[in-house]
Amino acid sequence: MPDVVNLTGPGLLLRPWQEGDAPAALDAFGDPEIALWNPQGDGLDLDAARQWVRRRADWSNGTNVALALADPTDPAVLLGSVSLHRIHDGDASIGYWVVPAARGRGLASAAVARVTAWAFAELGLHRIELCHAVGNPASCRVAERAGYLAEGTLRQSHRYGDGRRHDEHLHARLATD
Ligand SMILES: CC(C)(COP(=O)(O)OP(=O)(O)OC[C@H]1O[C@@H](n2cnc3c(N)ncnc32)[C@H](O)[C@@H]1OP(=O)(O)O)[C@@H](O)C(=O)NCCC(=O)NCCS
Repeated sequence: MPDVVNLTGPGLLLRPWQEGDAPAALDAFGDPEIALWNPQGDGLDLDAARQWVRRRADWSNGTNVALALADPTDPAVLLGSVSLHRIHDGDASIGYWVVPAARGRGLASAAVARVTAWAFAELGLHRIELCHAVGNPASCRVAERAGYLAEGTLRQSHRYGDGRRHDEHLHARLATD
C-alpha cells in the first residue's frame, strides 16, 4: 500500500483526510441525500466524526484507501469523499459523496475517474465495482461519466439510510477497459 497521496486534475484536489475535516464531515452526514445514500448510522456526533476521519486517514490495513475531495483554491475546505473498499486480490469497490454546495459541476465524475486511474496504475487493481441505488440517478450518471459500464441490477442488495433494502445497479471498470 503506498503512502497516502494527493491527486490533482483540472479544478480537482483529492488529499488525505485530516483531523480538521471532522466538523465539515459531520455537516455532510446531516445532508438528507448523503444520509440516505451514504448512511453512517444514527446519532453521529463530533467525536464519532473525528474517529471516522481518523479511520479514513489510516490506510495501514491494506483493504481501504480514502481521500477527501477539497477546494483546490483552499485545501482546508472539504467538498466530498472518494474511497476504495474491500481491496483484495486485484478487486475493490468505490464509494463517494459531494457536499450539496459543490454538486452539479462535474466534481464527483472527475474525482471517481481520477482515483480509478490511480488505483489501476499504483495499486495494480484489475476490477473496481460501483453500486448505487436504482433510485439515485445522479450517482448513475457519475458512474457512466467515470467510465463504469453497467453490468446489471442487483435485487434488494443493500439497506440504505431509510432502513429499506433497495435494488442497485452494478457498474464496473476493468484495468483493460
Ligand atoms: C451523486 C453525487 C455524488 C453527484 O455529485 P456531483 O459532483 O454533483 O456529480 P457530477 O456533477 O459529476 O455529475 C452529476 C450528474 O448527475 C446528474 N444529475 C443530478 N441530479 C440528477 C437527478 N436527480 N436525476 C438525474 N440526473 C441527475 C447531473 O446532471 C450530472 O450529469 P450530467 O453531467 O450528464 O448533466 C452527489 O449528488 C451526492 O453526493 N449525492 C448524495 C450522496 C450519493 O448519492 N452518493 C453516492 C452513493 S452511490
